[in-house]
Amino acid sequence: MRPKAELHLHIEGTLEPELVVELARRNRIDLPTFDVDAIRSRYSFTDLQSFLDLYYEHMAVLRTEEDFYDLAAAYLRRAEEQGVRHAEIFFDPQAHLSRGVPLEVVFGGLSAALKDGGVSAALILCFLRDQGADEAEQVLRAALPYRESFIGVGLDSAEVGYPPSLFRRVFEIAAAEGLHRVAHAGEEGGPDYVWEALDILRVERVDHGIRAMEDPQLVARLRDERIPLTVCPLSNVRLRAVPSLRDHILPAMLDEGLVVTVNSDDPAYFGGYVEDNYAALQRELGMTDEQLDRIARNSFEASFAYEGETTGTCPSASAAEEQVR
Ligand code: ADE
Ligand code: ZN
Repeated sequence: MRPKAELHLHIEGTLEPELVVELARRNRIDLPTFDVDAIRSRYSFTDLQSFLDLYYEHMAVLRTEEDFYDLAAAYLRRAEEQGVRHAEIFFDPQAHLSRGVPLEVVFGGLSAALKDGGVSAALILCFLRDQGADEAEQVLRAALPYRESFIGVGLDSAEVGYPPSLFRRVFEIAAAEGLHRVAHAGEEGGPDYVWEALDILRVERVDHGIRAMEDPQLVARLRDERIPLTVCPLSNVRLRAVPSLRDHILPAMLDEGLVVTVNSDDPAYFGGYVEDNYAALQRELGMTDEQLDRIARNSFEASFAYEGETTGTCPSASAAEEQVR
């Protein structure tokens, strides 16, 4: 299997129904159903918000350091099976703080799992854009005592109506702290959101970014500056950002010379982990081994580990990239 880096993965989006049930039982939390098939049958989404509603609902089972440890340890085991050599993992602290789960618990569980895991990995703290810029700034300041436990900041949750420009100041603070910067943009929002992420937030990667293809000048900018895009094909189909995989614009993005990567976003909800995304592109879109090798190489180039700033013990990100060449 081709070695790859995974750069767009929400740890809370790896919460499989089996773990939802196990953690609910452990924490004595009532669920509408304890039947995993019944839970899975709810995984039919009409747009980003319809998914986010369920995504936040299921997080109620994450309470203790052990819960966060088990969640991340399970993902890292799956990632290893899928050929992942390095992962840069998003987490949503505000979604836990709002339920009374302190940062100490979240960082404690996730960091311990990353240290014990068999795959090189690092954390990226995401701000929930629909909770506004003031709260984002508060959470960043509260997280600074854990500065050594994360390598960057991101921006996620409901996109349309919450443009990147709202978050200028918190991204400036993050930059001054030496944190890497990424943002979801151009998933449901238009190319203007991608421009703002580049010009105002000074992001180093764009998460999703598929709608950038609507603006040739933006495509030229992304290509010329080699700004990577973390595309998530199965997610785009499940959240109806594209009608079907066969309609996905990813091959055209590659033809434009963009630094495209393939990632799983929220694999427990979207029907596949990262290698499943690669396999689906080959099966449904007829993408060639050569194209997929290029995408895997891009994933190492786009990784912040290239700058030697990740935590974790596996030194193989660059060695793995050599294997793809
Ligand atoms: N949070 C988890 N998955 C997300 C996605 N695909 N877009 C925005 N926010 C998210
Ligand atoms: Zn995402």
